[in-house]
Order: sequence, then C-alpha cells, then structure tokens
Amino acid sequence: LGGVVTIPVVVHVVYNTSTQNISDAQIKSQIEALNRDFRRLNADAVNTPDLFKGVAADAEIEFCLAQRTPDGEPTNGITRTATTKPDFGVGDSMKFAALGGKEAWNTSQYLNIWVVRFHKDEKVLGFAQFPNVGSPLTDGVVIDYRYFGTTGTVVRPFNLGRTTTHEVGHWLNLFHIWGDEPCGNDQVDDTPTQQEENTDCPTFPKASCNNTSDMFMNFMDYTNDACMNLFTIGQKNVMQKTLNTFRAGLLT
Ligand code: ARG
Ligand code: ZN
Ligand code: CA
Repeated sequence: LGGVVTIPVVVHVVYNTSTQNISDAQIKSQIEALNRDFRRLNADAVNTPDLFKGVAADAEIEFCLAQRTPDGEPTNGITRTATTKPDFGVGDSMKFAALGGKEAWNTSQYLNIWVVRFHKDEKVLGFAQFPNVGSPLTDGVVIDYRYFGTTGTVVRPFNLGRTTTHEVGHWLNLFHIWGDEPCGNDQVDDTPTQQEENTDCPTFPKASCNNTSDMFMNFMDYTNDACMNLFTIGQKNVMQKTLNTFRAGLLT
C-alpha cells in the first residue's frame, strides 16, 4: 500500500454525428487534465486560498489509456461506435449495443468512460456510478462530448476537464461537498460544512453554516471549471480506500 496508483481507462465514444466523434487529441487532453488534477499538478492550484492550502492533497492517482483489450490485444484505449440515437438521457442506454451504445470492458479492470451527447432537457454535464452499488455492467462514468477534455468540441465554462474529475470523484465514492442537503455531511472531515451547492464562481470568502468559507473551489462542488482547484486529504483518503477495497481489481 501507499504510493501512486495508475488506473487503466477505456474511453467509449458513442457518436451520432462526426462532430460527436471527438478526436484522439481531445481524449488525451482529458486524460492529461485528470492526471494534473489528481496529482495536484494543476497550474491553478496556486488559487487555493491560504485557509485551505494545508488540507489540499495530491491524491496520488494517475490515469492511462488502456494498452490491452480484455482479450489481451493491443489497443489505444479508445472505442468508437456509431449510433442512430441522436442523444441520450441520464440512464444506461449508452452502455449496451442493443440500446444504441457500447458494452463496458470488464469494469473490475478498467475505468470505463462513455462520451455521448445528452438530450437538451438533461441538466447534467456527466454522471457516475458509485462503487459497490449497481450492476458491474454499467459501472463507470458518462460525460457529454461538449464537456470532455480541454480542446476540440469543449464549451465554456466547463472546458477544463473538471466534469470528468468530478465524476471520477463520485466513482471513487466522494459525495458532493454540501452533502446533498442543507448544511449536509459529505463524510469528509476536512471539507467545511456548507449550505448548498455553489455555481459560477463566488468571491472568497463565502461563509455559510458557521464555516469561515465554503470550499467552493473543491472539485466536488458545482462551480465553473476555472473556479475549481482541489481535492482534500480527507477526500484522498476516501478515494484511496475505495481503490483498495471495492476497486482493488484495477490495481492488479
Ligand atoms: N455532476 C455534475 C453535473 O451533473 C457535474 C459538475 C461538474 N462541474 C464542473 N465544473 N465541470 O452536472
Ligand atoms: Zn456530482
Ligand atoms: Ca465535510
């Protein structure tokens, strides 16, 4: 135990138009963003307020596109599937060929990321399946192609890859920083209790629930990508524990 762990990733691009069939370069830009954010190598780490610098963490998790398929064949870690579905809802259709999607690769061995277009009525940028709940066939994260990576089809203010950082946080058992209820509990000691989600980018300090300030720059809040810059030590501990329990197969 201890030290940096590397998670093999497969990205399933499920596209209806050629625009949705995002480039390898865009996919690589997302992997690089994950590696910066989870190692605290993000340039905007300097924007973490002094109040929170002491709890900011290098989560010691890295990501690489898979180099072998489940059958042991060489791969670039990217699958591309044309679909007749113009868009998807927040369900699991994109994970099954019979529903217009693409099957997961063994979810105990790979982080599966599906990149799709969400229907315009869906208010999300992405969603994740938490560890040890739900079917292994649907485990992974799903991200809209307009919020995946840092180049190509990405759209501001969600153009720095932080939707995937946030969803992978959920996939490693992190809850929203406001605990999903007023002054709720995210089960992490070093994230201040806060009233509710923050959006856009507040001015520091922004106090609620008797804290000195909300940690609105945490990856598990709802602020803009350019506003976010840290995971905490407590969040790192949750993620590392998840990797060593529910997701131990990824590390072998
Ligand atoms: N779960 C959130 C959503 O569905 C993702 C928030 C991502 N935030 C961001 N700044 N990229 O919309
Ligand atoms: Zn979330
Ligand atoms: Ca907390």
